[in-house]
Formats: sequence, C-alpha cells, structure tokens
Amino acid sequence: MTATALEPVKTIAEFAVAPEEFQDAIRKIVRSHAVNELYGARVFDEKAIALAPTPYAKWLTCRVAMEEYGHHVRFRELGEQIGIKAEQLVPGEKKPLSIFAFPLASWEEFCVIKLLADLAEILQVEDLLHCTFHPLRNLARMTMPEERFHAQFGKDFCLELCRTPAGRAKVQDAIDRYFPMLPPFFGASSSKNNATFRRLGIKQRRNEEMRADFLERARALVEDELKLTLPKIVAAA
Ligand SMILES: [Fe+2]
Ligand SMILES: [Fe+2]
Repeated sequence: MTATALEPVKTIAEFAVAPEEFQDAIRKIVRSHAVNELYGARVFDEKAIALAPTPYAKWLTCRVAMEEYGHHVRFRELGEQIGIKAEQLVPGEKKPLSIFAFPLASWEEFCVIKLLADLAEILQVEDLLHCTFHPLRNLARMTMPEERFHAQFGKDFCLELCRTPAGRAKVQDAIDRYFPMLPPFFGASSSKNNATFRRLGIKQRRNEEMRADFLERARALVEDELKLTLPKIVAAA
C-alpha cells in the first residue's frame, strides 16, 4: 500500500495502521537521529568537557553533553515505540555520519563544531517542525530550543576566542578544516528518499535547498559576525 494523502498521523496507535511506506520513512529518520545523536555526544560533547578551559566552560559543556545524550534518549524512546529494534537505535550496523569522523583534539575545534554542525542540525530539526507524524513533530519542537542553545554556545565561545590574534587564528584554522565536512550532511541532491519524505509531508524542503540555506547562514555567521573567512567549497553533488 502506498501513501498518497498528507493526512496527519497523530498517535503511535495511528502509526501502527499507517501505510507501510509512511512507517518505513519515519523509521529511517528516527533511527538516523537516535544513532547520530548518541555518536556525536560520545565523540564530541563528552570529550569536550575535558577540553573546556574553565569551570564555567566545563559547566556549559556538561549541559550541552547532557542535552545531546537526552536527544538520543528521546529519539530512542520514540524508535522503540514505533517498532525499531534496540540494536538499530545505537551506532553499530548503521554507520554514523561522516561529520563525526573529525578527530576532536582542541577546545577551539569543539566551539567551531557547535557553531557550524549544530546550525546544520537546526536546519534538519526545523524541517520536521510541521511533520505529518505528530510524535516526531513534537519531538522536533522539544529539541529545537536546545539545538539553538548549542549553536549559540558555539558562537559565544568563538567570539570570545576571537578577541586575541592567537585565538582568532585557531578558530579560523578549525573552520578551514571542519567546514568542508558539512555540506554532504544534507544528503544527495535529487535524493529519492527526500522526495518520498516530502510527498508524505514528513519533510518540507529538498536536500539541495537546505544545503544552500545552510551555506548562506554559515557565511553570514562566520563572515559578518566573526569577521573570519568561510572556505570556498566545490558545489556538492
Ligand atoms: Fe542534538
Ligand atoms: Fe546539538
């Protein structure tokens, strides 16, 4: 059975009798969030607590780490309710995203990751705010203020680091090395999965539209606010 209408699916009980195509699409998205939130919390946020230079910075980094683990917990709970197997909700058989392959080694790098990767995450979560599956829509609405806090955290600490020439150079260097990993995060242009998500009212925008929006917002942030340079990237697939 294929779904054609954009009828909202308001509850887990309604989900259980929704068309298979809709169920599969939702499971794909929930699974990906559950896996990647956990992986990111492990390789970046938890590690960054040790890198944070002051008790204040450690305190805020603990909060960020707590929230990222919290995102995993929420997506995992939803995943269990919609019938995703426990082992599919943690990193393992599903490879985490390439943006997590960056070997985090410094506080400056972490601040840049929050500045840019969490901005990318905000765009992804924004796209689910009007999702036809209401439990996922509600989860996105709950997650959004926290992702905004992470991006603001990144911006505030980057601005602080940029007050000295040495700090500025380190932030620029981290941007130069990390930023090129981000555009592929939005997925392939003309993606079939994305077309299905839009047809079912789960997502709103094409991958390439989100990528273009991200590049524009990242450029404004880095060039207008931090007065640094965003590396030129070759147009992605
Ligand atoms: Fe998150
Ligand atoms: Fe985040």
